[in-house]
Amino acid sequence: PQVEPCDMVVFGGTGDLAMRKLLPALFLRARDGQLDPGSRIVAVSRSGLDDAGYRDKVAAELQASLPAESAGPEAIGDFLRQLHHITIDVSEHASFGAVGEVLGADAERVRVFYLACASQLFGTICRGLDSAGLVSERSRVVLEKPIGHDLASARRINDEVGTVFPEERIYRIDHYLGKETVQNLLVLRFANALLEPQWNSGAIDHVQITVSESLGVGSRAGYYDRAGALRDMVQNHLLQLLCLVAMEPPTALDREAVRDEKLKVLQAVRPMSESDVARATCRGQYGAGLIDGVAVPGYLDELDGAPSRTETFAALRVDIANWRWSGTPFYLRTGKRMERHASEIVVQFRPVPHSIFPGTEGGIAPNRLVLRLQPDEGVRLHLVTKEPGPGGVRLRPVPLNLSFAETFRSPLPDAYERLLLDVIRGNPTLFMRRDEVEAAWAWTEPILAAWAASGESPQRYAAGTSGPPGATALIERDGRTWHEEDFQ
Ligand code: BG6
Repeated sequence: PQVEPCDMVVFGGTGDLAMRKLLPALFLRARDGQLDPGSRIVAVSRSGLDDAGYRDKVAAELQASLPAESAGPEAIGDFLRQLHHITIDVSEHASFGAVGEVLGADAERVRVFYLACASQLFGTICRGLDSAGLVSERSRVVLEKPIGHDLASARRINDEVGTVFPEERIYRIDHYLGKETVQNLLVLRFANALLEPQWNSGAIDHVQITVSESLGVGSRAGYYDRAGALRDMVQNHLLQLLCLVAMEPPTALDREAVRDEKLKVLQAVRPMSESDVARATCRGQYGAGLIDGVAVPGYLDELDGAPSRTETFAALRVDIANWRWSGTPFYLRTGKRMERHASEIVVQFRPVPHSIFPGTEGGIAPNRLVLRLQPDEGVRLHLVTKEPGPGGVRLRPVPLNLSFAETFRSPLPDAYERLLLDVIRGNPTLFMRRDEVEAAWAWTEPILAAWAASGESPQRYAAGTSGPPGATALIERDGRTWHEEDFQ
């Protein structure tokens, strides 16, 4: 169904995120009739573009990034008419008047202010909007991650935004929560009676969460070098995935109920001391290497050879101190310029307590549930079966394979398509609440501090590999291995 007409003002309107994700997502929803044709999208930047220049830029981006059959000239033309561009300097309050001139005075209309820019600017922009009288009861603000650089800056930014927008109208986006497979995790857990009784440390040996990217930092090196993998990915995306795996069943699929349960997990994640950090974390930085047979430069070369200890890879063992998970570690890892672009959650069950089958003295492969977030979204359950044949009983682990593409045969929407509509509808369930973001920072901060205090550089790994040796050592020390075979 179509959402009500709205005005969406995108700060950072010519940036990487707006061009690669937000505009294509809005276009696809407009094309399918979900975005009201009376809605306006107002991009704000310092670029100096006028409406026509911006429309040309967006048209070129849509044509380049979407297949021709999903982005025909007529659909693009209709969408471009909804676009406007304003050039302002957000540090000048007076310049916000220009936004007001485009928006007009309709206080009944939903306004979404999407801050797709550095989080240090969030407070300034909110004050600018407020001083120009642009914030009505029906206005919402969307904040991109990472919010701040550490707990103190996150609190300061949340305070600043909070002076203009009440918490229920602040949408802190973590686009992983909009991914189809991530939402499917909730359905898998809470719409199938089979799993929940097993979903605890009694039956589950450990959980692995991997988000591996083959891309490097490219044009985002300026931002990335100040962030690193822990701030860019772990503090938000990976911890959110961990929360959805580990949380107690919420009483309803309701904004507060779901977020309350995630918060409880974040509060139960065991804080790391300096010695825990030395033992249970690993940092890496990619050097030159090969991705799909093509030579790619190392991270430092992308920074023009400047020295940097920023990690482009992180692996951690995380323990959750509560009844359900005590004794079941969660291993997280994420990296850039890895061998493959692949993300998954692996739930490794405990082995059977006793084998009746001859020849299995070494143990029987334990069951394993693999949720593939991307690509080839799907779910695999590894079971042990008998190899066919008249001989003795020979066991073989075989996956039950559910591929979303094959089963549903409809293309999966991008996470931003879902989340942008949720903002317009006024549904913040899949967005992070202030207390969640701050709890995640509170846990992350000592790790960053211990890394900085150690004075050590991240371990080098060649681009196109599965990461530094420390990541393997980290999990093998516990007698376990990273799950790789479903990546084939
Ligand atoms: C972003 C990070 O939040 O997520 C990027 O800032 C990362 O560094 C991206 O590449 C990954 O998202 P996805 O949806 O491509 O897995």
